[in-house]
Amino acid sequence: TDSELRARIQSIKERLGERLYLPGHHYQRDEVIDFADDTGDSLQLAQLSASTKAEYIVFCGVHFMAETADMLSSNEQTVILPDLKAGCSMADMADIHQTERAWSKLGVLFGDSILPLTYVNSTAEIKAFCGRHGGATVTSSNAEKMLKWAFGEKERILFLPDQHLGRNTAFKMGIPLEQMAVWNPHTEKLETNEPIEHIKVILWKGHCSVHEKFTTEQIQEFREKEDKWNIIVHPECTHDVVEASDYSGSTTFIIDTLKKAQKGTKWAVGTEMNLVNRLSALFPEIEVVSLNPNMCPCLTMNRIDLPHLLWSLENVEGGTPQNVIKVDEKVSASALLALNRMLERA
Ligand code: 13P
Ligand code: SF4
Repeated sequence: TDSELRARIQSIKERLGERLYLPGHHYQRDEVIDFADDTGDSLQLAQLSASTKAEYIVFCGVHFMAETADMLSSNEQTVILPDLKAGCSMADMADIHQTERAWSKLGVLFGDSILPLTYVNSTAEIKAFCGRHGGATVTSSNAEKMLKWAFGEKERILFLPDQHLGRNTAFKMGIPLEQMAVWNPHTEKLETNEPIEHIKVILWKGHCSVHEKFTTEQIQEFREKEDKWNIIVHPECTHDVVEASDYSGSTTFIIDTLKKAQKGTKWAVGTEMNLVNRLSALFPEIEVVSLNPNMCPCLTMNRIDLPHLLWSLENVEGGTPQNVIKVDEKVSASALLALNRMLERA
């Protein structure tokens, strides 16, 4: 039963003590968050993984986060992902071969005027690609700061792999939509009707399937209600959704905004379901619902559950850790250049 699983997890945690560190992303299930040493957004979890001294980091999140934790921790530390199937469909939308081909084709069009930036929701290889070409990683909480930095370095930016975070951030900085083009990795063509010399931001055609399900029609329904509803969404939502909402920002931004919200106010939230449900329980003085009435779970985040967590911890305690995430050293060296350019400025 769940309570037996919980008791066993708890006692292994107690026995391992400081040898174990268990970070949990805000999108994890409550049953997992209950055991997390820290919870956070992607930036915070990356920073925490860089500073922990624990021998084992059992990462409750998705694959790219565990890779990042491995690269930022020391060689003596072991990073474990409780279920290897906990990937991220967005990160899988840019593979290194597609990216190398895009880079050489874009080079023909734009010469060396482009700096690559990648959302941390990407494979270590893509981070390494950015590192090698002078670029950096970004998260949803520092994308604007990093884009500003990037424009100090080069005239144009290639933003991987989430077109929406790239578009929303560039637009917020005052770059008009006409100056953004989409790189389609399947047709290997730049999608734009503008003369290409006008293009400032090249957006990789990737997206998050969870956040793409929020729509302006859903926002409209809340706007038509008698009571005033505040709409807050994650910047992985489409541009029209972000523009139609009242606030947008990272998972931590969403939590902090609701924490400060006035008693009695109503909030429709456009982000992953586990977080929305948790916020609704955490802040009973305000009303919190999902913007999408059908809810939106991230299926891969949800793969980590009590049985997977217990299995991982038993293997750690037994001295045979499984699902160890170890990024190739050469890849890691280049990816760290990109990660550190971000962390120095975060
Ligand atoms: P943040 O935690 O940085 O807001 O990112 C959310 C996300 O989609 C992680 O996959
Ligand atoms: Fe990836 Fe979207 Fe899930 Fe985040 S919510 S892990 S971007 S699929």
